[in-house]
This record gives sequence, C-alpha cells and structure tokens, in this order.
Amino acid sequence: MSQTAEIKADGQSYELPMMEGSEQEKAIDIGKFRAQSGIITIDPGFKNTGSTTSAITFLDGEKGILRYRGYPIEQLAEKSSFLEVAYLLIYGDLPSKDEHDKFTNQVTRRSLVHEDIKNILTGFPSNAHPMGVLSSLVSSLTAFYPQSLDPHRGTDMVNLSILRLIAKLPTIAAWTYKNKIGQSLNFPVNELDYVSNFLHMMFSVPTEEYSVNPVVAQALDKLLILHADHEQNCSTSTVRLVGSSQASLYSSIASGICALWGPLHGGANQAVIEMLERIKDDGGDTKKWMDKAKDKDDPFRLMGFGHRVYKNFDPRARIIKKAADDVLADLGVNDPVLDIAKGLEEVALSDEYFVERKLYPNVDFYSGIIYRALGIPVEFFTVMFALGRLPGWIAQWKEMTENNEPIGRPRQIYTGATERDYTDLSSR
Ligand code: CMC
Repeated sequence: MSQTAEIKADGQSYELPMMEGSEQEKAIDIGKFRAQSGIITIDPGFKNTGSTTSAITFLDGEKGILRYRGYPIEQLAEKSSFLEVAYLLIYGDLPSKDEHDKFTNQVTRRSLVHEDIKNILTGFPSNAHPMGVLSSLVSSLTAFYPQSLDPHRGTDMVNLSILRLIAKLPTIAAWTYKNKIGQSLNFPVNELDYVSNFLHMMFSVPTEEYSVNPVVAQALDKLLILHADHEQNCSTSTVRLVGSSQASLYSSIASGICALWGPLHGGANQAVIEMLERIKDDGGDTKKWMDKAKDKDDPFRLMGFGHRVYKNFDPRARIIKKAADDVLADLGVNDPVLDIAKGLEEVALSDEYFVERKLYPNVDFYSGIIYRALGIPVEFFTVMFALGRLPGWIAQWKEMTENNEPIGRPRQIYTGATERDYTDLSSR
C-alpha cells in the first residue's frame, strides 16, 4: 500500500503519512495537517476518527468480529473466566497457572472496603440512581488511597491501584444495592470465587442460608466477559481522555462510569427492559412500536438496536441470546418480555428501515432479560455492565499512560458571533 495520502484543499496539495494496523486497517495521520495548511478536520461524534493506536481489542463491525488480545470472544466466553480475561486485557497475555493463582489471590484479599465508605454511602438518599453512587464511591477511593493520585508513581503502585479496583468494585456495587433496599451490608467471603462472592454480597440475608446457584454464577461470569472491553467506545474514550490529563486511575474510572450510564451506551440495558415492559403493558403490539421507532417525528428509538460500529451483527448479542434461552430454561423462568423481544427482533430483521440502516440487536437487547432472571433489579443493570467493563477501562488507561500519550484536546470550528463591543447594561 502507498505509505502516503494526498489531500487537496484550497487549491493546494498536501502529502500526509498513512499507517496500517496489524489487521490491515488503514488510517491517514492528520496530526501535522493543520500546521501545514491551517485547516482542521471535523468529525462530530468521532464517526471516522481514530483517537489512538491500541493493542488491546480488535473489532470488525462489518464482519462481526470481536477479539481481546487476539482471542475470539466466542472462545473466551465459552472457556475462560472473568478474572482470567481481566488479566489478559490488562497485562496482554493469558496468565500461566502461577500467575492466575497469584492474581486471583491478590484480588480476593483486597475485596474489603474501608469502613468509612459506609458513611458516604448512607449519606445518599435511597432513591439515588446506583450509577451515580457507584461513580462517587469509586472517586472517593482517591481519598482513601492518596498515593494513587500520581499515575506515574511506579509499576507497583499502579498495580496496587488496579488490584484494589477490581477487588473492591463488586463490594461497592453490592453495598450500593443493599443500602438502597435498606438491608444490612454483607462482607465479602474469601473462599468464594469473584462472581459467587458478588452474588453472596448482593443476595445473602442474615435470616436465611444462602447458597450460590452455579448456573447463575456461570451465566454472570459469561456476561462480564462479554462486556469486558470494546475498544474506543464512549466510556473508554472518556477514561482515556480524563486519564490523559494525568488524573488518577480511580478518577478516570469514575468518569467512565458516568459516561456508561447514558441510555445510548450502557444504560441501554435498563432502557430495553423498560421498553419491553411498556410494550407488554400496552398490549404487546410490536408492529405499532416498530412504526414509532421509524417515525422521525417520534423520539422513540428501539432500544437495544443499532450500533456505531457493528453493521452486520453484534457477536456478543448472538452469545447472549443463546445464554438467555439456556438460563431461563435452567431456572424455569417464563418471562413474557422474552417473547416480546423475540417478536421485535423478528419484525426488525425483515423490516426495510432496519435492514437499510443495518440496525441489529446489540449486546444490551438480551442482557437485561438474563439479569432479571438472575434477580438483579433493573436499575442495577448498568452497574453490571460497569463491573464487566472495568478491566477494559483499566487496560486502556494503563496503555495510554505507558505510551505517554499527549493530553486529549480536540479542536472546533467556531460558529458563534464575530467580535462585537460590550454595551452598558443601562443602554440595553
Ligand atoms: N431505533 C430506530 N432508529 C435507529 C436506531 C434505533 N435504535 N438506531 C439508529 N437508528 C437510525 C437513526 O435514526 C438514523 O436514521 P437516519 O439515517 O434516517 O437519520 C440511522 O439509524 C443511523 O443512526 P445514528 O444514530 O446516526 O447511528 P449512531 O452510530 O450515531 O448511533 C446508537 C448508534 C447505538 C447510539 C444508536 O443505534 C441507538 O441509539 N441505539 C439505541 C440505543 C442502544 O441500544 N445503545 C446501546 C449500544 S450497544 C452497548 C454499548 O456498547 O454501549
């Protein structure tokens, strides 16, 4: 391939370098273009702008491919575990047996959170959305571990922050839930694995014996793996952007949690179930709701459909759809919204509007149905996404820091008033 690209603008020709990724994706490097020409490029929503090079996740939206560090998502979802995938994403390779055991042990031993966190937690009103609470509590970790504030403090310090975060997020999330419903908080139990421990902290009550259902634990582990990274999406780009100012890991992740919250991103899993419920309560007429989604004067969108980069199918959605069937069958749950979801999918896949725009079910379309079957409340669905995405955010923050990437600072085209003189208040 030619190593340069030619751009003609304002009657002049400019030669710009090109780069190629390990999967032959091509890019024009416009970093120095403004210095040469005085012209910027503009791309609201970064629809065709690469913000970085990255060796973590490969995604081909046309072919429906998703790989973490080269490993296909289908293999990892079937054979790996969430903690192993976290190690893979963060450190670059699958762990040896010793590395795996050491990492698991290091995470397990750090799952307790400082008792003073309870004071912050109980200060929130009970109707606070858990994503806001989660983000605040993660940000508060900077106060409990002030040494973490310097992201260049050395590998050991950074690793300690990473371990603490992976270890404590399930505890913080489960405590957020317990506090919201007014139940006593459960402490982590070290003999349980990562996911079982989370389920214990969420659902165990002092009055009854609680044992973790292995089918539930396995399904949740798979869901977390499927959410673990997705290259430069909205929340991950936020984590990298915040981190690029040399903000600490905890504060960068807290901002990622906020970015994930919105219904066009991670919040879609909550929005999907609310939408399916609404359709069910309205009589289940899927055609009527499809028409609403297609009507440009109606703000309604079919939640869980469409994706910025997947224009063929979302490979995560395929795995999740099957997992939803398996989990519901295994638990003997008959959820009427699953039928509505399948009905909507069937109509959408053959509808011209959706086919033309390449809108397919995304990861969030079926994940909420599984979360609900597992007993996770709707407002907590996006918290589950955050738990899953955590290793990806960490890996991307670490890569950005290690590569000494410059501070993120986009430019703009100004469309406001040109210079005008200030007038006194009395004359206006
Ligand atoms: N329902 C109806 N129409 C849609 C939908 C939808 N869910 N999604 C996109 N469209 C239409 C959109 O109106 C536009 O039509 P036109 O070309 O006539 O103006 C066209 O399809 C392209 O959409 P877009 O909004 O320009 O595409 P985008 O890449 O900016 O947005 C998206 C991607 C995911 C935000 C969008 O598809 C959407 O809002 N989906 C619903 C929310 C959702 O499920 N989000 C979760 C994404 S997966 C989880 C994650 O990784 O965050």
